[in-house]
Amino acid sequence: MILENSFSGKEILTWRNFQLAKGGNSVDLDWLLDLGGGLSWSDLQILKISQERNYQLNLSLQELSVIWMRFLDQKIPLQYQVGRCPWRDFELEVNPSVLIPRQETEVMIDLALSKVNPCEKGIGRWVDLGTGSGALAIALARSFPKWIGHAVDCSENALTLATKNIEKLVSDSEIYMHLGNWWEPLTTWFGTFDLAIANPPYIPKSNFEKLDSAVREHEPHLALFGGDDGLDCCREIIKGSMNGLSPGGLLIIEHNCDQSERVLSILKKNDFYEIEFANDLEGIRRFALGRYTKK
Ligand SMILES: C[S@@+](CC[C@H](N)C(=O)[O-])C[C@H]1O[C@@H](n2cnc3c(N)ncnc32)[C@H](O)[C@@H]1O
Repeated sequence: MILENSFSGKEILTWRNFQLAKGGNSVDLDWLLDLGGGLSWSDLQILKISQERNYQLNLSLQELSVIWMRFLDQKIPLQYQVGRCPWRDFELEVNPSVLIPRQETEVMIDLALSKVNPCEKGIGRWVDLGTGSGALAIALARSFPKWIGHAVDCSENALTLATKNIEKLVSDSEIYMHLGNWWEPLTTWFGTFDLAIANPPYIPKSNFEKLDSAVREHEPHLALFGGDDGLDCCREIIKGSMNGLSPGGLLIIEHNCDQSERVLSILKKNDFYEIEFANDLEGIRRFALGRYTKK
């Protein structure tokens, strides 16, 4: 019996060398072999010493070559082409209507867990503002299993995909999806959110040309740009948090690498307290935190 997409180790290694000679690097190519082909990094190491054996791939080498060429020539991100992206301890479906969830954003969940003890707090309410693929919402639902969740996005396509990911990964959780502008669809629950988390668009408009073309040309601009200084969405979210948060509720917001002082000062001016910054995995100030109690 001839199995479709079955290749010898030798064929796969020859293919790999041939693709690398066209350009790119082995980290990206091995990522494609793993996510697209289903050949993990450890399989690849075994394959190097068992080259005569046959390996079953999810796609043909021809199909993988087409993806690799689109990645090299048109800079179409591999995640969009494969339609999947690993994030924290799960895998999300992604498409060009959502930002590819970044590794640095994963830290927001650890920050939330370090500041709010889900067991101590019992039942609470969180919101993910600008949910995109639903990455933060899914991780929050897993981290705070008894809490009620809300996810907001103004992109209908993003919200559709987030709903799909949520249904697949955290179907038991109580999560309400809202289409609209930041806090606007949430007025019914104002004053009840114990935790608000947001990774808003924060790139200044003027940085457009400086962006990597893979990002500039393929990721949704709605997810990237935050006005002239990049902080338009951040200001709106902070202002809305003053109505949305429960007494002492916590806001965690991601920002660009050079915006920390400005975001902290917006929080200060608006009477947030326990204001602090946090670093991403590279040691760059990337997050601002603060609590708010309405007077
Ligand atoms: C930087 S992306 C973050 C996506 C996801 N939370 C993540 O971390 O991967 C920002 C998201 O905010 C959404 N967005 C932009 N403007 C918005 C608005 N006015 N109201 C609600 N969502 C908005 C975008 O559609 C996008 O999904």
